[in-house]
Amino acid sequence: MLLAGFIGCKSSGKTLNENEAKIESQIEKLVKQMTLEEKVGMLHGNSKFTSAGVERLGIPEWHLSDGPHGVREEIKRDSWDAAGWTNDSCTYFPTGTALAATWNPDLARKSGKALGEEARWRGKDILLGPGINIMRTPLNGRNFEYMGEDPYLVSQMCVPLIQGMQSEDVAACIKHYLANNQETNRGTVDVLMSNRALHEIYLPGFKAAIQQGNVYTLMGAYNKFRGEWCCENKFLMTDILRNELGFKGVSMSDWAAVHSTVETANAGLDLEMGTDSAYNRYYFADKLIDAVKNGKVKESVINEKVSNILRVMIETKVIGENRKKGAFNTPEHSEAAYNVAKESVVLLKNDRQMLPIQPEKIKTIAVIGDNATRKHAAGGNSSGLKARYEITPLAGLQSRLDKTVKINVAQGYEKQSQIFWDKGMVLKEDKAIQKKLAAEAVEVAKKSDMVLIFAGINHDYDTESADKPDMELPYGQEQMILDVAKANQNTIVIITGGSPVNLSRISEQVPALVWEWYNGSEGGNALADVLTGKINPSGKLPFTIPVSLNDSPAHAMGNYPGKNLTVSYEEDILVGYRWYDTKKIAPLYAFGHGLSYTSFEYSDLKAEVIPSDNDQLVQISFNLKNTGNTDGAEIAQVYFSDPKSSVQRPEQELKAFKKVFLKAGESQQVSLQVKATDLAFFSEQTNKWVLEPGDFEVRINSASNNNRLKQTINIK
Ligand code: BGC
Repeated sequence: MLLAGFIGCKSSGKTLNENEAKIESQIEKLVKQMTLEEKVGMLHGNSKFTSAGVERLGIPEWHLSDGPHGVREEIKRDSWDAAGWTNDSCTYFPTGTALAATWNPDLARKSGKALGEEARWRGKDILLGPGINIMRTPLNGRNFEYMGEDPYLVSQMCVPLIQGMQSEDVAACIKHYLANNQETNRGTVDVLMSNRALHEIYLPGFKAAIQQGNVYTLMGAYNKFRGEWCCENKFLMTDILRNELGFKGVSMSDWAAVHSTVETANAGLDLEMGTDSAYNRYYFADKLIDAVKNGKVKESVINEKVSNILRVMIETKVIGENRKKGAFNTPEHSEAAYNVAKESVVLLKNDRQMLPIQPEKIKTIAVIGDNATRKHAAGGNSSGLKARYEITPLAGLQSRLDKTVKINVAQGYEKQSQIFWDKGMVLKEDKAIQKKLAAEAVEVAKKSDMVLIFAGINHDYDTESADKPDMELPYGQEQMILDVAKANQNTIVIITGGSPVNLSRISEQVPALVWEWYNGSEGGNALADVLTGKINPSGKLPFTIPVSLNDSPAHAMGNYPGKNLTVSYEEDILVGYRWYDTKKIAPLYAFGHGLSYTSFEYSDLKAEVIPSDNDQLVQISFNLKNTGNTDGAEIAQVYFSDPKSSVQRPEQELKAFKKVFLKAGESQQVSLQVKATDLAFFSEQTNKWVLEPGDFEVRINSASNNNRLKQTINIK
């Protein structure tokens, strides 16, 4: 059935199925009954996290909440102060980088469902997440909320997460559209990039979320893109979002990211949130009514925006019946958080098989470092949570370690920083205290059989509104770790963080190194289970850890954080491993790296190209065997390399992966498919995807820098 143009994008000449047509006609009826004032009332915040409904027509107020890794503490309607509720302490889920490090889409779906249930139970209609910006620089304060440096991994993980959330009648909200890749000057910086980088690196996550995940809402970013604010950028908000990607949902602004009425309304944004003024003085309030009345914004444009909101309301049953009611803090939610945490821990290095800890062989263990006891849930700013509980690494170890093992605790280092919303992070280093704590740690290490140092960063560094000042470990940690490692050969370092830190010297000096994330309510239990061998580590890095900051693309090119408030992405498509591999810069730990307590053998690669409807398929199969004595999981990664091309291509690109669980000694035939069209590049000349026929190399890797099998195939 075809409907007339009134409803907007969804019905503009496209064939709708019966259900869609029913929804569109319901929307049309509602909009026709609304006054201009009522319509505009739906297009801007009427409290910090709600927008108005139209009571007489049965349209309720819309309730939004941060996001992304839990449902934020309830705040007052008109201020950022806590509302003081006693029943809003939520389950804290591992943050974006942790989820991405599992490389397990099934876990993303399950945590999405749990997040959706928690949001529903709290009466929310939209949960503001996931955040899917690409990690362009190790310094971005919000890297921890996002899913790493590779657009394919981001896409594979965000789609099931969104689907899981939305299955609970809650809308997900992908953010921050687009190119909010740094917090420094985020509200003023103008981002310039090529159309190729846009399509190959920065858009694919959004595209997958829209086209595969059917995400209901999207948040426009604070920054400018090619000279115009993202939220009033017609190219982004209409040409790309609606016309190219086919988005049918609601585009909202980030909080106070709108700067104009007419331009923003005509560019395509639907909903203005967070502007710092009385609600009727928002750009999309009285001024928008005036703009319609004096003909600068057509009423049909308003109708479209309202229709987009109503469509999401109907699809999530905000309007309608039998809406799911959700659930809060259930054992299943804790389990979902635990499962992500246990599969996210990355074993970076394990010389002398230091790990897992063998309690029968040790009597004393030193636990050193502020991150052994620090809780992280509340940090990071808008994503901060009031968690019902958070198991710290020390608490996890205390519950998991045999009572015969004595734990000697030392502070090791002190958090000598504080984060302020308006000033950013203030670091007050006290070298005398650093020395004293390091000396105490050395003494404790000397009298222990084994040492675990819980080091890294915290949300003074990994945070919204400020980037990290550099990639170094703060508070004198590096020296302390080196001193302790010298005093006790059996020193294992566990790094907490959501973005790369400089581990070059530490990695040389300690036999074992583990990467831990902001890992949710169950983080400490999961980590203790990995350290003690109950769980075999199976996480892999969703980003590269470079030897030094200047090795990384944006910094090597000198285009971070930009000049005169403009940042030009001159590294272009060479982001993350695409840069390191192409430029032959060896990373300290590569994208996709992660060890296991067992070993895996890859063999018998067969890759063939077969025709399929309007495309060709690369059918890939190989054998994977667990050759050790421990059950475990391997993440096999399929990269493609295009050795001959009319344009520069990255050395290789991730196009498929599979996490395979194998019992000790077990083997499995792994089969994967990649569409030939997925091997195309985006041409600057034609503004289209181009697939050049010829040879491609298929590489089966266990990390971006660790090739196990390869074969050349020919695409016609
Ligand atoms: C953040 C968003 C967040 C919003 C509401 C903004 O500062 O950038 O990610 O959803 O605040 O708290």
